[in-house]
Amino acid sequence: MHKILVTRRVFDEVLERLGRHFAVEANQEDRIWTAEELAQHLADKDGALSSAVDPLDASVIERASRLRALCTIAVGYNNIDLAACKRAGIVVTNTPEVLDETTADLAFALLLASARAIVPAERWLREGRWRAWKFDAWLGADVHHATLSILGMGRIGQAIARRAAGFSMRVLYHNRNRCDAALERRCNATWVERETLFAEADFLLPMLPYSAAVHHIIGAPELALLKPTARLVNVARGGIVDDAALIAALQERRIAGAALDVFENEPALDPRFLALDNVLLTPHIGSASQATRLKMAMLAVDNLIAVLGGQAPPSPVRF
Ligand code: GLV
Repeated sequence: MHKILVTRRVFDEVLERLGRHFAVEANQEDRIWTAEELAQHLADKDGALSSAVDPLDASVIERASRLRALCTIAVGYNNIDLAACKRAGIVVTNTPEVLDETTADLAFALLLASARAIVPAERWLREGRWRAWKFDAWLGADVHHATLSILGMGRIGQAIARRAAGFSMRVLYHNRNRCDAALERRCNATWVERETLFAEADFLLPMLPYSAAVHHIIGAPELALLKPTARLVNVARGGIVDDAALIAALQERRIAGAALDVFENEPALDPRFLALDNVLLTPHIGSASQATRLKMAMLAVDNLIAVLGGQAPPSPVRF
């Protein structure tokens, strides 16, 4: 029987299914392992179900001498050294598509909450400060008929664009490769140059997978193109946005606000974010619905069963 590792806590039904196929070591205590500990646990394993935050760098991969399948329960895999996996002949899989709609829901939730100051208004009420209704209190920005600018129009970007139709928003997007006309029509989205995307945005959403090529693709020069009334929403990955440049723009009120689910160096996000009243912060919960997390884990199990059974996995990472 193949031996497999589950690097972080998963639902019991996921372990039950794995147990019918493999000898399973599971980290149900949900310890955060160092790279050294992870390497030790992987040493005698043929396969692994991993997470988006495991440090699967070359030093760990090179020591996993039996490993044949690395199945991350995430769509992003920038925490995995693919070159090292290739050298070692390890098949890597991820969990695309099953989380698209849930992540788009969170993007919209953050967009709405940021525009209408939901979180600070609720906190203020809880603090017992609501003494009287006021005509000019808590004035936010309209979402309906505003311009939504999406950088990167992959599946999650498209799911966000479809939601925007319900708010009569104008949707602009920029992609290296323009989408075909039918897809543009379905998303009610118009391709524009990068500069236009930034300059016209009421809400700017980068929706790209992280790679070195897009590191700080939204930095000081791009933030300088935004209107003072614009808001940035990031549910993609830390590192796409230059957090220090964003903090400066928020501190100087050069943009109206930001809503962020991902950060550079998370969970140790830059503490200056915490001192700002024009940013909404959530702890990387884009795909965190019960149903979607189960679908992601089960897809990762499908991948693991396929690879260790000598079959083609349903969602391989191609590299
Ligand atoms: C979460 O961040 C993921 O990549 O699925």
